[in-house]
Amino acid sequence: MAEKGDIRLDLNENFFLPAEYYDSITDDISPELSTYPSENCKELREDLAEFYDLNLEQFVVGNGSDEILDTLFKSMVSPQGKMGYYVPSYEFLEFFAERNDRETVSIPLKSDFSVPVPGHKLEELDSLIICSPNNPTGLMIDEKHLRAILENGLTVVLDQAYGEYAQRDYIDLLKDFSNLVIVRTFSKAWGLAGIRVGYSISSPETSMRLRDHMIPFSTNSISSTAARSALKHADTMKGCVERTVEERSRLLEELSEHGFNSIPSEANFLLSRPPASISPGKLEEELERRQIMIKTFEMNRLKNYVRITVGNPEMNVELIDALEDIL
Ligand SMILES: Cc1ncc(COP(=O)(O)O)c(C=O)c1O
Repeated sequence: MAEKGDIRLDLNENFFLPAEYYDSITDDISPELSTYPSENCKELREDLAEFYDLNLEQFVVGNGSDEILDTLFKSMVSPQGKMGYYVPSYEFLEFFAERNDRETVSIPLKSDFSVPVPGHKLEELDSLIICSPNNPTGLMIDEKHLRAILENGLTVVLDQAYGEYAQRDYIDLLKDFSNLVIVRTFSKAWGLAGIRVGYSISSPETSMRLRDHMIPFSTNSISSTAARSALKHADTMKGCVERTVEERSRLLEELSEHGFNSIPSEANFLLSRPPASISPGKLEEELERRQIMIKTFEMNRLKNYVRITVGNPEMNVELIDALEDIL
């Protein structure tokens, strides 16, 4: 069990943002506490619309992107319909489907974890979720492929929880495809997992449909004010993303020097196969004894892998020192 003070490299949080960023956000929080927030955080949606140069009506704000994903199951899949998703991918999707009594179709990723060419399976679906960069692989779906799937006309939900770390964001595809829904969060690159704010970007019609299924006032004023404040520090966020990407390359190299085989990731984590001399479970146990947490998997296809968040340089030095001790 993780304890306070542990190095948490198992949750893909962001450890790069400076204390001044958080101080400035905290200083900005002075919302009107006696009244309900505005309708679906209108001011935050206005700021997001300006940030992306899109329209207010295209945004829906939720209590973390988890709330948006959960609501997508309710709103975009009819009770008799099906939501498709690729496996392995974000592990809570099946949980959202069960909670909402919706059926899913899991489509296996190819042996190299890339997305298979769209096949007849798409015809039986109401919607399809594509996580890109994918958790846990860090791989992106390529544009040609994504366009081919979108051209089938079904609703495509692009979960971009790690989108800021990737080279290509696909937001411009919203212009060409009204069946595209992009889901993003303040939890990762913005370093604000604690405030629980996520959002979707889609056609205004899809936004309306999604909002019709959401709990009124689900995102509170303190969180939405914090998210609005964060948007003013976009340059700080982008600078930290650049440092994370540099650190990710360094970590990949150092892991490789220690016999790990990692997938080249476009997110803030690496999916890695440890050397044959140690199993993922044993490695997790040994690191945990040294107060470093990483993620292991039960799923058969991932049982030889571990997922390691790209920590800041100090954390990564501790990780590599621990590996030298263990291996
Ligand atoms: C792929 C993916 N989607 C969505 C989420 C949910 O993020 P949040 O609810 O914090 O916005 C996560 C969290 O780890 C994730 O990895």
